[in-house]
Amino acid sequence: MLSPAYTRSPDGAWGEWPVLSPRAHEYLNQALESQQWAISGVLREDRELFERRFARLFADYVGAPIAVPTDHGSSALVIALEALNLPAASEVIVPALTWVATASAVFRAGHVPVVCDVDPATGNMDPWSLEEAISERTGAIIVVHWGMTMADVAAICEVGAKRGISIIEDASQSHGAEWQGRCAGTFGTFGCFSLQQAKVLAGGEGGVVVANSSQWRVTLEELRADSRSWRPEGAERGPVLGLQESVGIMGSNYCMSEFSAALLCAQIETLDVQHQVRNKNFYLLQHLLSGIDGISLPSVSPKQNKLSIYELPVNFSGSCLTENNRRAANIQASLGVKVYQPRHPLIGSSLLKPWTKTGLAPLTALFNERHEDAKHPHAERIANESVVFHHSALLASEEEINRLATTLIENR
Ligand SMILES: Cc1ncc(COP(=O)(O)O)c(C=O)c1O
Repeated sequence: MLSPAYTRSPDGAWGEWPVLSPRAHEYLNQALESQQWAISGVLREDRELFERRFARLFADYVGAPIAVPTDHGSSALVIALEALNLPAASEVIVPALTWVATASAVFRAGHVPVVCDVDPATGNMDPWSLEEAISERTGAIIVVHWGMTMADVAAICEVGAKRGISIIEDASQSHGAEWQGRCAGTFGTFGCFSLQQAKVLAGGEGGVVVANSSQWRVTLEELRADSRSWRPEGAERGPVLGLQESVGIMGSNYCMSEFSAALLCAQIETLDVQHQVRNKNFYLLQHLLSGIDGISLPSVSPKQNKLSIYELPVNFSGSCLTENNRRAANIQASLGVKVYQPRHPLIGSSLLKPWTKTGLAPLTALFNERHEDAKHPHAERIANESVVFHHSALLASEEEINRLATTLIENR
């Protein structure tokens, strides 16, 4: 029997998020009292930093050789791109449906995001639109696992391998999802995750990069800690600075604080229990809506053997933005849980405006040129026709999921 405290706090309302893990207070207090609040200090012999512990726990959780925590998911993407050391102003392909950071990280790393359309059934990057977007300037592909399903990352890696193009997975919305038994984030050279408050693994603000080989460890550490990396195993304890000035590549400060790391060490302990509840409820909802005309949920590929639901898009076929705006407000008023519309696809997004930064002018010119006639009809349709539930709406009882299904049907 699962403790309800893992999915709701006592008396917690439906849709409450974040839900504190049982050990959150204990670990946060330990971090506070340790007086080691950052990784860039003198190490104590009697305790391990939460940041080190979280790196290990997360690498184990996804089955990656190494994990390097960062201050945000956006900086995880920046250092993954920087680690590839591509020629300046390389093109990096990103899908039309994602949070703006997938594309803005490309600008921050000195490259040009090129936006491709998505699979109409899932909203994820698909190998065909990807192939169309590839040019001789393509240096990398960022595949995002959007909302609640994984992109066909195995097929996308094949496209990349055929052309010698590196793959970065933006798994900010898919911690613990599995494709043919392998976790999101472990297919590409790098997998990047956001650990921001709304995510299924929430540390307030935070991020983490995993790599497909431990050979990337020093480079990634240097890129996120002002060119410094951890002293070799065994030499990192005692009254010495934990970080040494190894300077293989110049970095910036994107380090995770000990408070976020302590919280994450607690929150990861309840992640799988919460996945189980959300996933069971998704399949119940799918069953309750099956055969109902005009409403559909994203189709889950049989190759995806485990879901990790960040946002649940519900599609009302043929509807438009204004209609869905009203529909989202009505559903939210009936249920008391947050309902909203997906973000606008990247081209035309109110948040993606590189021309507002003079320093980006050369990259902006290339970006504008590349997207002069860009059309992303599948992404546009999904954004227009869907309303979205945050994953906390699925941390619910069977009765609440029944109410959810009834309300969706009434609001067709
Ligand atoms: C797909 C995706 N990529 C990147 C990010 C950026 O993460 P952060 O907000 O932690 O910088 C997010 C956060 O919402 C995201 O959903």
